[in-house]
Amino acid sequence: NTKNISAIRAFRIVSTHPKQILSFSIFERSDIMSELTIRNIQWFPGHMTKTRRMIAANLSLVDAVVEILDARIPMSSRNPDMNSMVNNKPRLFILNKADMADPKMTDKWIAYFKKQGIAAIAMDCKSGKGVKNFKGAIEQLLSELLERRKNAGMIGTPIRLMIVGIPNVGKSSFINRMAQSKRAKVEDRPGVTRTKQWVKIGSNMELLDMPGVLWPKFDDQEVAKRLAFTGAINDDVVDIEMLAMLLLEYLAKNYPDTLETRYKMTEFNEMGGIELLETMGRKRGMLISGGEVNIERAAITLIDEYRSGRLGRMTLESPEDIDNG
Ligand code: G4P
Repeated sequence: NTKNISAIRAFRIVSTHPKQILSFSIFERSDIMSELTIRNIQWFPGHMTKTRRMIAANLSLVDAVVEILDARIPMSSRNPDMNSMVNNKPRLFILNKADMADPKMTDKWIAYFKKQGIAAIAMDCKSGKGVKNFKGAIEQLLSELLERRKNAGMIGTPIRLMIVGIPNVGKSSFINRMAQSKRAKVEDRPGVTRTKQWVKIGSNMELLDMPGVLWPKFDDQEVAKRLAFTGAINDDVVDIEMLAMLLLEYLAKNYPDTLETRYKMTEFNEMGGIELLETMGRKRGMLISGGEVNIERAAITLIDEYRSGRLGRMTLESPEDIDNG
């Protein structure tokens, strides 16, 4: 299967500027077995420049920035420019979707961020677990400011927070949880302008729901791979079979018990992605005529079972991955 041996990676960058339709592709050959093929990711650098400008312009209005991350991929779900944009503002990371992440790894990430001087809390905005810890975490983060305000008699001044995150990380779910209401979700679409919104939380907090889109770091192969595992990169642009092989390679190394219990796989230590996928498909009886494994069906099943949480709680990157470059 030459596709696996020599994958071609392609990104298409499309500018939305009406008069300057820029479209180009970067094709990069790789002879490494496990490269993910990503076709025509459409992201919009012009749109992000606008978002970045808007964030900069509104920073002075808030006391802190709350950045929502995906607990399964806390690093890959960050916007690469956030550090420089946020500058010296106090920051809180929410490791959202913690219900799907490995709890031990979530603790490890929280400790890692703490060492970097950034407060972080785990949350599950789907069920609401962990949401009640938010207020306390913010009060701790802003304790000096709150003390100063108290001493100055500014009791009624609300804490103002900017909420940011890449698409689909759970910003709307978080704000809805905090506001204890179901606000209509306003999609950010290139070319459609929506205005910023302040959402009042009780009598002493206001959340700034920023419009615009902050993209993750698509152009880093490792990051793109992890985003694709979680579904943050649309399946239409990725090679689902390759994605499944890569996920199986990761699971074989980091969560071997899952493969043993869920798919009854044994002795897979030496197997590469294709063999892992074939074995998994065979164990599930996904055969086509001639006894061959239906690779596509096996791949779709694996990805679907992973994303729906049926493989258990797993984290796809660890702080060591960063320290090891
Ligand atoms: P966004 O505003 O940042 O784009 O994200 P949004 O809140 O729309 O959430 C994106 C998807 O992630 C939604 O699923 C939402 O339910 C889910 N989600 C948000 N927080 C959590 C969490 O902590 N745990 C889990 N398991 N899921 C979470 P969806 O399939 O798009 O919609 P739906 O299932 O809610 O209908």
